[in-house]
Amino acid sequence: MKFFVSSKSVATLHGDTLVCFVREDKNESVAFDAVLSSINTLSQGRIRTLLAEEHFTPKVGATCSIQMSGSFPFHRVIIAGLGNDALTAYELQEAVAAATVRAKKVKTNTCVFLLPQSCIDRFQTFLATRLFVEAIGLGSYSFLPYKNKKTREEDQDITSVTFVVEPSHMAEAMKGIVAGSTRASGTIFARDLVNEPSSVMTPSALARAAKSLTKNKRIQCTVFGKKEIAKFGMGAFFGVARGSDEEPKFIKLVYTAPKSTSTRSVSTTKTICLVGKGITYDSGGLSLKPASGMETMKCDMAGAAAILGVFETIASLKPTVNVTGLIATCENMPSGHAMKPGDVVRAMNGKTIEVLNTDAEGRLILADALSYAQKYVKSDYTIDVATLTGACMVALGEDVAGVFANDDGLAQNLLDASHIAGEKFWRLPLEKIYEADLKSKVADIQNVSKAHYGGAINGALFLKEFVGKNSKWAHLDIAGPAFAEKETSLSKFGGTGFGVRTLLSFIELKNKEN
Ligand code: BES
Ligand code: MN
Ligand code: ZN
Repeated sequence: MKFFVSSKSVATLHGDTLVCFVREDKNESVAFDAVLSSINTLSQGRIRTLLAEEHFTPKVGATCSIQMSGSFPFHRVIIAGLGNDALTAYELQEAVAAATVRAKKVKTNTCVFLLPQSCIDRFQTFLATRLFVEAIGLGSYSFLPYKNKKTREEDQDITSVTFVVEPSHMAEAMKGIVAGSTRASGTIFARDLVNEPSSVMTPSALARAAKSLTKNKRIQCTVFGKKEIAKFGMGAFFGVARGSDEEPKFIKLVYTAPKSTSTRSVSTTKTICLVGKGITYDSGGLSLKPASGMETMKCDMAGAAAILGVFETIASLKPTVNVTGLIATCENMPSGHAMKPGDVVRAMNGKTIEVLNTDAEGRLILADALSYAQKYVKSDYTIDVATLTGACMVALGEDVAGVFANDDGLAQNLLDASHIAGEKFWRLPLEKIYEADLKSKVADIQNVSKAHYGGAINGALFLKEFVGKNSKWAHLDIAGPAFAEKETSLSKFGGTGFGVRTLLSFIELKNKEN
């Protein structure tokens, strides 16, 4: 898919499909702006008539496809709803993705998108274009390697998209296209990793995917195997991996910022450490999940995938912050070698953990990854990303991720980043009074709480035990939005690549602070 910008009038352009957006005006009817009014005139009033006939309401996600004829320069016009003035980045992307899905359905090759003035007023040209490009890229995504040839051929992608903007906005729009394309490609990289079956996307395959990112010179990757994991003293991670025939891997990615050209010394360069849960399959282990609970558990490496998605993209953004990625990856399987409920493991930071439920495995592997971060990575911010608890889905539903942080500034930075990234997060508390429920009778801590409720918080509180007292740390529980069982225009069934765009926006935010 190629993106272009043009400042020509629509009447002088041509293509398969023209995509226009309409907002609700005050009485919830269709509001045409000047450009759309002129296009309506060009269509001899056909657009207005058809919208009225179809009782079209410009809600976010609503689309209407109109066949054109005669001298009109496009085969068809797609009209898409853009809601009202309070449009969020998320809603804008849903609207654009809905239009994209519709355009793809009617076999569009070339299309022209009118960037509505209302979006430019709200988001400025750069961000508006960036959001459009991401939404078009993600809305047209499909994962088809296991479908037959006919299905794959029918799923033709849109080949060219041209945005029409004012001449003075061309340069900003162009920048938006570059940013949007890279961010979409990072997200799609993560989606593909999640969508591969677990028989293919093993810990070794995930490590290979990480290694492939070193084709960019600014990225280094080290992969540690079983022996090194044991030598590090990662007993909790090792315990989870024990039941599986697949070898566990500990992956370390390092992005080194280009030397700062500012007068400030290099030592002010900030370091962000991203830590990912990479359970390539979560059967629950001996605390086996019910069959229905296992159906989508290839998604349990989505945190790791999000970090790889960030690294796929980061080098082209060339931020002046250093970023380290740590991924603990293995399978959680039952077998004669498997860890058993009641076993005690020792994490890398020396703390002993009584494993009462082998299905609470994410926190065990993260305990060691966070310990490693504390010992070997001198970072200003540590952020872990994990499909950690079903309880977070009970609390926030399928579309909203939980954010926990021991620092209010960091929590706010992440929420701000998510707002311009078009992803949904909600802060949950690291509630101190629940810590007592993690006390073990035989070890320093147990891996599940004695309390029935507050599972997402309990998981976060467990992780906190493996984070340095003075480090700024956040935990993103993406169990809900990492995998779409309920489809939207922006994400088909399967991996969503959730987290990539928020993390990239967070890195950009820290980049600006430099
Ligand atoms: N990977 C799951 C969490 C999960 C559930 C992710 C649904 C995505 C969708 C995690 O390892 C898990 O099994 N958590 C347990 C924790 C419990 C045993 C304390 C859970 O949520 O039930
Ligand atoms: Mn589990
Ligand atoms: Zn899990």
